[in-house]
Amino acid sequence: MTAQIINGQEIAAKKRVEIAKKVEDLKSQGVTPGLAVILVGNNHASQTYVKSKEKACNELGMYTLLIKMEEEITERELLVKIEELNADPKIHGILVQLPLPKQIDERKVIEAISPLKDVDGFHPINIGRMMTGQNAFLPCTPYGIMVLLEETGISIPGKHVVVVGRSNIVGKPVGQLFLNQHATVTYCHSRTKDLEFHTKQADILISAVGIPNFINAEHVKDGAVVIDVGMNRNEAGKLCGDVSFEEVSEKAGYITPVPKGVGPMTITMLMYNTLKSAAESFARI
Ligand code: GUN
Repeated sequence: MTAQIINGQEIAAKKRVEIAKKVEDLKSQGVTPGLAVILVGNNHASQTYVKSKEKACNELGMYTLLIKMEEEITERELLVKIEELNADPKIHGILVQLPLPKQIDERKVIEAISPLKDVDGFHPINIGRMMTGQNAFLPCTPYGIMVLLEETGISIPGKHVVVVGRSNIVGKPVGQLFLNQHATVTYCHSRTKDLEFHTKQADILISAVGIPNFINAEHVKDGAVVIDVGMNRNEAGKLCGDVSFEEVSEKAGYITPVPKGVGPMTITMLMYNTLKSAAESFARI
């Protein structure tokens, strides 16, 4: 079987048109969705991510506030800034770009963000709400994966989903979102024995480990849906995922490429969450 490619760039572009339209509607009612992005220090990858987020906001007609802070700032200084943004009515979403310098406790920072402005979906209140199936900000990469499948017309109830990776940002929440949609979910990770036995059972296989060529054709059942969340560099410095694309695409039914797979959906869902936050703040007035 030769897999059908799930084109994340096309699906993201379609979603962004829908979001831009809703932003216009909200603006005509006097509310401009606003996202504050805090960047601490000089991490190169973080600088690139933050630029893309700013650009997406501008393209969709949203207000964006980029706050750059020195690598040496104290935890208290960052917490004070977050309090200021929590109280700012122009700001509907607050994103603190991770990772943070070692003197700052990430959990404390995440918990300082108002759950009503937590567009990353990292606050324990949003995680708890997601787990119990209540209205919540969903973390952007897992949410983007669900939208990719929905837009491709892949049905989820009753499917066996195998998630490889258990990070708080991707692995754990994506499994929960599939469970909420009536899938049977298996989590695999670095201590899993006989990984291949588990991954071969998957109707839908999600890899979020961060190691090039971690998943090859031997791990995959014929016709499976393979979602590659990896964002790695190979020996030649080229961007690649966790999945050996050439061989797995000969066996899978559907596959996401890297780049242009899951990646473009992450920022799109951040924009969606910011819009949702602005719309909900308007409804509360
Ligand atoms: N660093 C890498 N990915 C993310 C993300 O999704 N959100 C934040 N805040 N930081 C990140």
